[in-house]
Amino acid sequence: MPTTTLLRRRFLEVALLVPAGLGLAARALAAAKEPATADEPVLPATPPCADGDDVTPPETAGPFFTPNSPRRQSFLERGVPGTPIVLAGRVFSKQCVPLAGVLVDFWHADGEGHYDNEGYRCRGHQFTNEAGGFRLESVVPGLYPGRTRHFHVRVQAKGGRVLTTQLYVPGEPANQRDGLFNEALLMNVKPGIKHKLATFDFVLDA
Ligand SMILES: [Fe+2]
Repeated sequence: MPTTTLLRRRFLEVALLVPAGLGLAARALAAAKEPATADEPVLPATPPCADGDDVTPPETAGPFFTPNSPRRQSFLERGVPGTPIVLAGRVFSKQCVPLAGVLVDFWHADGEGHYDNEGYRCRGHQFTNEAGGFRLESVVPGLYPGRTRHFHVRVQAKGGRVLTTQLYVPGEPANQRDGLFNEALLMNVKPGIKHKLATFDFVLDA
């Protein structure tokens, strides 16, 4: 994984998740101010990015996409089983420009590995804010036969091509048994008090 990508993810852990848990964010900010060690460089003030950064690789949509999902930033509702997770990140162009107004459409299995193919449970879209940011409250996707835990997502800048891909959870034993798994699509996931905290940046070929 490119160093720039790692650094940007570290920045996101501190900067984007502040509203998700002030206690955690305060600790994260305090940690960021601690002296750097040999393998922990000082965090830069702005997200680093380099021209030609790797674009996010595509993956299959699979058989469970449903068009016209509702616009919303939370899939948490009565009857959705699973461990709460907040997934936040930003969308960049290949030139590292944060992209506002990008359509980000998520869908995934609930915590027990079931898709809602009749309605829109664990399905929804949103648009990135002025900083290119998105934020989704949901549950950790469950396992189902043949697949490790994963989020499905479609990302499309205005007038741009659709990126269809999937995001994965680090440390999952099933990752190595899933032929679709791609470590370039691993989120950074940390435990939290009320929910897990996941970050991922998309880089579009735009
Ligand atoms: Fe799936």
